[in-house]
This record gives sequence, C-alpha cells and structure tokens, in this order.
Amino acid sequence: MSALVEATRPERKPVSLLRLRAMLAAGEKIAMLTAYDAAFARAADDAGVDCLLVGDSLGMVVQGGSSTVPVTLDEVAYHVRCVARGRRHAWLLADLPFGTYEESPEQALRSSAVLARAGAQMVKLEGGWAAETVRFLVERGIVVCAHLGLTPQSASALGGYRVQGRDEAAADRLAREARALADAGAAMLVLELVPAALARRVQQENPALVVIGIGAGGDVAGQVLVLHDMLGVTAGPMPRFVRDFGREGGGVHQALQRYVAAVKERSFPEATQHTY
Ligand code: KIV
Repeated sequence: MSALVEATRPERKPVSLLRLRAMLAAGEKIAMLTAYDAAFARAADDAGVDCLLVGDSLGMVVQGGSSTVPVTLDEVAYHVRCVARGRRHAWLLADLPFGTYEESPEQALRSSAVLARAGAQMVKLEGGWAAETVRFLVERGIVVCAHLGLTPQSASALGGYRVQGRDEAAADRLAREARALADAGAAMLVLELVPAALARRVQQENPALVVIGIGAGGDVAGQVLVLHDMLGVTAGPMPRFVRDFGREGGGVHQALQRYVAAVKERSFPEATQHTY
C-alpha cells in the first residue's frame, strides 16, 4: 500500500471483543483468516482482516501432516508468538490442540494460560461436550471460541471430512450444543461444514454469539478460511466451500484484499458454489 493511501485512510483501531460484537449487531461481516507467521499476519492485517486464527491446521499446511491431531501446545504457542509480532489490529485467537483441554477444566486453563502468555486474546476448543470447560475458563478471565460441526480433531470419529448436522436429529443436537456453549459464556463459535440453514438457525437462536462459518453459508457473523487454501497453495483437491482468491491474480496482497472485500460485500460465500 502506498504511503499516500495509508495516510488518507481513517485510523484503524485494534479489533476488540466489543468491536466484534458491535459488528455483529450492525450486520458488518467479520473476515477471519488463519495465520502462522509474522509476515503473513502483517499482510492479512494490512488487508483489513478482522481476526487471525492460529489454527491447529498448521499440522497440515505448515508441517505437511495429514491431520491436526499431532500438533502440540508448544507448537501452537510458537506460532502465536510469531503471529503476535506481525499483527497490528486484528483480534488474535489460537486453537487449543488435541489432548490439551479434554481431560479437565483445570487442564484447559493451564493450556489456555500458555497460549495467552504467547499473545492469544482468545482460545478455541472443539466439541459440543465442552460447556462446563467453557464456563470454567470464562469465569477465570479466558475469552473462548467454541467449534462445532466438522471438528477436525475428531474427524476420524465423525467418519471423515463430511457435512455435519444434515438430518433433523443431528441439527437439533448441534443447535442445543451451540446454545449450551453460548450460555456457558463462549463469545464466538466457529461452525464448520454444516448446511447453511442450520448455521442461520444457530445465529438466529444466539443473536449475541459471534458465529463464524467455514462451509456454513453466509447468514452468520463472519467467515474464516485457511490461509493456504484461499491463496491456492494447498496441494490436492479443495473442498467446495473454498474459493481460490490467489488464482484471481495480482499477488498475495491483492488476494487478501479480495477476500476481505468479498466477505464484507457478502459475495463470498456464494450460495450456489460454496454452500451446502
Ligand atoms: O485449525 C484451523 O485452521 C481451524 C479453521 C479451519 C477454522 O480450526
């Protein structure tokens, strides 16, 4: 970005939880991306990304593994420190990796403290069972994002990367879990790979919960994609909910700007192409 453009832009304030809630209330879409290092964190932040997620997807896109399961707490903390150095405005959240929070709320608190010390402002954990853990963390000052639908840490138990909540019973269960997590104090919910109608229902039933979709349609507070997927550098076939913004030309910075603009203008996700 040129110095002139930068100088004439209204000053951007750091994104806070209050700001995210205000965006939800005002109907301004939230653009989130994963980030794993300082350079891409800065580029995404400069492009106007509202939230950066240090996802345990790093096990796949950074480490070259086939799942998120082997990722450790120290590895996530390392990437949080890198991203925290690059970020200027975006809200920074990080995944609690598999095996670092399921045993007890106390274990979850110890792991969250490691990520908070590394620079995370919010921790994300997977599963509909976790309301008690969320309440325990929130009461102790940790800001929590829950994750429902396709939860990659338990993808094997879910039968692989498949759309979740398709039948009525599964949809009702997910909606109940979302309500319990919101009641327990989760401020944000990532909904992955669920029908758009179910994501819309969850957002409507929990109007103060910042619902971020990935393969969940556009009727939620915002969108997240894995950085490498949206830049088109991930090997192999992409799920249908991914749009390859990198292929559209102009380099990384323009791809990031196009992503933010598409989320804000509601042209991504597209109902017929990226939605179930
Ligand atoms: O680990 C990750 O990148 C995630 C996103 C897919 C939401 O959890």
